[in-house]
Amino acid sequence: MKAGTGLLSALALFLLMGVVFTQRARPKKPTKRPATTRRPPVSQPEPVEPTDFPPPILGPPSIFPDCPRECFCSPSYPNSLNCENRNIRNIPVIPFRTHYLYLQNNYISEVTAEPFLNATEVRWVNLANNRIHRIDKQVFNKVPALLYLYVQQNQLKEVPSGLPTSLEQIRLGRNRISKIPSGAFSNMGNLTLLDLYYNQISDSDLGKNTFKDLKSLMQLNLAHNNLKKMPAGVPGSVIQLFLDKNRIDDIPKNYFEGLVHLAFVRLNYNQLNDKGVPKGVFNVSTLLDLQLSHNQLTTVPVINGHLEHLHLNHNSIESINGTQICPFNLQADMSDQNLLPRLRYLRLDGNHLSPPIPLDVIMCFRHLHSIVI
Ligand SMILES: *[C@@H]1O[C@H](CO)[C@@H](O)[C@H](O)[C@H]1NC(C)=O
Ligand SMILES: *[C@@H]1O[C@H](CO)[C@@H](O)[C@H](O)[C@H]1NC(C)=O
Ligand SMILES: *[C@@H]1O[C@H](CO)[C@@H](O)[C@H](O)[C@H]1NC(C)=O
Ligand SMILES: *[C@@H]1O[C@H](CO)[C@@H](O)[C@H](O)[C@H]1NC(C)=O
Repeated sequence: MKAGTGLLSALALFLLMGVVFTQRARPKKPTKRPATTRRPPVSQPEPVEPTDFPPPILGPPSIFPDCPRECFCSPSYPNSLNCENRNIRNIPVIPFRTHYLYLQNNYISEVTAEPFLNATEVRWVNLANNRIHRIDKQVFNKVPALLYLYVQQNQLKEVPSGLPTSLEQIRLGRNRISKIPSGAFSNMGNLTLLDLYYNQISDSDLGKNTFKDLKSLMQLNLAHNNLKKMPAGVPGSVIQLFLDKNRIDDIPKNYFEGLVHLAFVRLNYNQLNDKGVPKGVFNVSTLLDLQLSHNQLTTVPVINGHLEHLHLNHNSIESINGTQICPFNLQADMSDQNLLPRLRYLRLDGNHLSPPIPLDVIMCFRHLHSIVI
């Protein structure tokens, strides 16, 4: 009864580890809605024509004579200028004392240099959720110390030119960007975050040198664009690389080799199949979190023993062999904690697998807290 005892001890081990098997609930059939006479609430349509924009809302009286009428100037925060949510169409004249400028959720369509003539101390600008389709190059000559520029959710068709080299964060997500002028990010050695999420960027818009100068970049978000290839020239400093919702079908061998800090990779919703994933391409010792859900993989890729989270849900995986996917030799001495794979979370639902999880998977990944199949 040797096999039987082995099985029993494996089972006991599995119980001790407290692995959570989660069987995903089948989506419920939509039940018919009860007939109702009440009509759904009609939400206010977003105004299209400038003549439809509601009138600007004026701020409270201010102790600062230079406080623009549409803004709020807090006596306790003289460096902040709060002009958000006020139906503003034109940026008011920014007082010299301003370091933090809040202009989000308005109807601004253009950013010109005039309001910034005296705003040389501005560090943060939030212009999110406006109607901006143009930012004058000259604006940035006026704000040489700018650190954060947030322009997400606007109507930009290209990355603005002449951005200051002092920038640390740029958010340009949810625009219509399909053009990155050459040198757009040159000399930005302090930039840590570049968010280009949800635009219309394709492979030809990204040159080998687009990101070349970004020696401090930690997060690059190119999710939800039109990429078919992995972006070239990603700086070696990058920790988080987000590429979900593109059409990527191939990863070059050694693609991750120079990315010696890379810890988080998201490639959910792409077109990766086994052929486009070279063996061992994800065997990267710095990776902690790898997300490959909603692709077309039929096998579990080779992973590194340091990986903690792996998302493989909604692929076409038919079987897993714990002996093959185990980053370490199952027969080796498992009492050494350093030789145990660190995988804690594994998603395999939406594949062609059904429980139970093979025992060799359980035997290998002893730190697993949760596995969804
Ligand atoms: C610019 O700021 C300086 C310093 O606060 C001030 O003296 C000057 O009047 C300002 N100029 C304009 C055009 O607002
Ligand atoms: C980058 O940051 C360093 C340290 O804060 C600073 O000295 C330097 O001037 C910055 N570079 C630019 C181009 O602003
Ligand atoms: C994964 O990479 C490590 C080095 O980091 C290597 O020792 C190991 O053999 C590789 N695993 C596979 C299955 O190729
Ligand atoms: C898993 O792979 C190992 C090594 O390649 C092999 O010996 C074993 O038979 C496989 N297990 C199953 C259930 O296919």
